This record gives sequence, structure tokens and C-alpha cells, in this order.
Amino acid sequence: MNIKFRQLGESDIQITPLGLGCWQFSDRIGFAGKFWPSLENVPSDEIIKSSWEGGINWFDTAEMYGWGASEKCVSRGLQKINASVENVIIATKWHPIARRAKRMFRSIEEQIQRLSPYKITLYQIHSPTSLSSIKKEMEVMAELLKSGVIRCAGVSNYSANQMRKAHTYLEKLGFPLVSNQVHYSLLNRRIERNGILKTAQELGITIIAYSPLEQGLLTGKFHDNPNLIKTRVGWRKYFPLYRPSGLERTKPVIDTLKKIAEKCNATSSQVALNWTINFHGDRVVAIPGATHTEQAIQNLGTFNFRLSESDMNEIDKVSRGFI
Ligand SMILES: NC(=O)c1ccc[n+]([C@@H]2O[C@H](COP(=O)([O-])OP(=O)(O)OC[C@H]3O[C@@H](n4cnc5c(N)ncnc54)[C@H](OP(=O)(O)O)[C@@H]3O)[C@@H](O)[C@H]2O)c1
Repeated sequence: MNIKFRQLGESDIQITPLGLGCWQFSDRIGFAGKFWPSLENVPSDEIIKSSWEGGINWFDTAEMYGWGASEKCVSRGLQKINASVENVIIATKWHPIARRAKRMFRSIEEQIQRLSPYKITLYQIHSPTSLSSIKKEMEVMAELLKSGVIRCAGVSNYSANQMRKAHTYLEKLGFPLVSNQVHYSLLNRRIERNGILKTAQELGITIIAYSPLEQGLLTGKFHDNPNLIKTRVGWRKYFPLYRPSGLERTKPVIDTLKKIAEKCNATSSQVALNWTINFHGDRVVAIPGATHTEQAIQNLGTFNFRLSESDMNEIDKVSRGFI
């Protein structure tokens, strides 16, 4: 498989258009952990192995994913397959809620330990919710960058305005803000309307699309078998799009994905991911998560084909305006 790398923001880091989302490795620890099954039931080593061997060069995790469980898991999985420290790109996040920016210094020490021997390439502030100003947050990021503890700085869930502010402060300190990780999928295209995508494109910031499969909804499996929803741990079953009315409303998108998938000899999830990472050009990348090895392998098949312009436009038209 020949995967074309993309530049991460205005940095010299090259990433594959898909990374592996590693929230699924939270082992049911903490609030965020309760969304997915325990590690006994998620073959994390296999998922990491298939992703790495399939060409994926980066892994997205966070301090709050099982309070370190996911970070440890990523390191263990990569060590088991002897993935080279020089080539692996780790993106992780600092948990800002009820904390001041200076707390990043202590968190990152712990995160470095958990991820060792792999280094943190991209450090992201998980949400714009710390007790400190964006200016203070960027001052700490600049210190981490200067000392070489991290290679790039990013944010997550920042609005267009907050992202611009972060970019401006960091630029004054001599560094680019390389990414904003936000919810973006065919069923959640809010960033196209609220200025986030436009501002990111203007500033050369990469958009990292999280929940790009809308937590599995875009695979079509829950439309094919709505009873499957009840078998899932976590809160998906309570989300509006997962209710019978949500399934009904989103059916035209799923039907279109299925039709195009058949033509392309692909799956609905591959078509959805393909659209997400190509419709707006090279500055949008995505990080699908997986609870089964087959899912991670299937998602890699996204790189096997290219959607035609008319297919892209048809998907665009049918999926506009859900959220
Ligand atoms: N920054 C943030 O605030 C934030 C928030 C959310 C997520 N994230 C990041 O984004 C990543 C991905 O987001 P996400 O996990 O919310 O949603 P997602 O990637 O849209 O969905 C992942 C889930 O969809 C199902 N799935 C994936 N591939 C499949 C396939 N080929 N066939 C069938 N089912 C498949 C699996 O769930 P089941 O097997 O359980 O059905 C999997 O756990 C996370 O791991 C995390 O790194 C970040």
C-alpha cells in the first residue's frame, strides 16, 4: 500500500492521513474510560500491530484516556513489535479541567514515563477549559518546545477564535500551532460553518478529525441491525443520532455510502473516511478508533482507492446539515 504522507501544520513532521485513535484503550478507568469495553475485550496489541504494519505512523492518545491506561497501552503495543522510536509519532493531550497551565509540567513528566521509550511528538491541550488564559497555556507550550520535550504544539476542541488566539501567542514566541483536533464526520460538519475549518486553512493548521465514523454509525452496522446498539457498553445508545429517529434521519447518508462503496469495491466506513480526509484537501486528517483488529485493518483499506469528484459531491450533498 502506498500511503502519501502529509505535513502536520507548518511543522517538518510527516503523518499518514489516518492515525489510530487510542481512546478505546482506556480500560474503563475514569469517566472517559466508560465509553468502551475493558482491555480484556479490546485486543489493543493486535490493533496497534495491524495499524503500524499497515503503514499508519501515528497514534492519538490522552492523559485522560483511562488516566494513563491508553498511553501505557500504546507504548507496550509498539514495543512488542519493535516499532522504531525514531519513526513512531505520538500525539497525546494534557487534561486541562480545573487545572492551571503550569500543571502541564508535572503531567508531561508522568506522560513521558508512561510512553517511554517513545517520545511525545505532538502535545495538545484537550479542551479550552483550563483555569489559565490561552496566553499562559501557549507560554508553557513554548517552554516545552524550547526544551525539546515535545516537537509540536496543538489544541483540541478550540473554537475558531480560540485557535487564532493560540496561534498568535505561540507565533510571537517563535513556534507554529500545528493542529486543532475537533469533532468532524459526515454527520457532524459543524466546523465547515462555524469558522474552524476556514481559519485553520488560512493559518496552515491541520484539522485532526475525531469520531470520523460517528462512533461506528457511518459503518452502517447499526442501521442494518439496530439491536446491536443495546449490546454496546457506554453511552452511544443515548445519543440522538443512535435513537430510532436518528437512524431514520441518517439513513439517506448510509444508503449513499453503501451504494458508492459497492461501486468502489470498498466498505461504507472506507468511503466515509476517504471523503473526510480528501474533500477539503491535505489539511484534514482523521483518527478512527477500533475495538477489533478487523476494524483497524478494514479502515486501512481507505488508502486503496480514490473517490471520483462526482461521488465526493454526491456524499457532500446528502450529508449537509445534520449537526
Ligand atoms: N479530542 C477529543 O475531545 C476527542 C473526542 C473523541 C475522540 N477523540 C479521538 O478520536 C478517536 C476516534 O474517535 P471515536 O472513537 O470517538 O469515534 P470513531 O473513530 O468514529 O468510532 C470508533 C468506533 O467505531 C467502531 N468502528 C470503527 N471502525 C469500524 C469498522 N471498520 N467497522 C465497524 N465498526 C467500526 C468501533 O466501535 P464498536 O466496535 O464498539 O462498535 C470503534 O470503537 C478516539 O480514539 C480518540 O483518539 C478525541
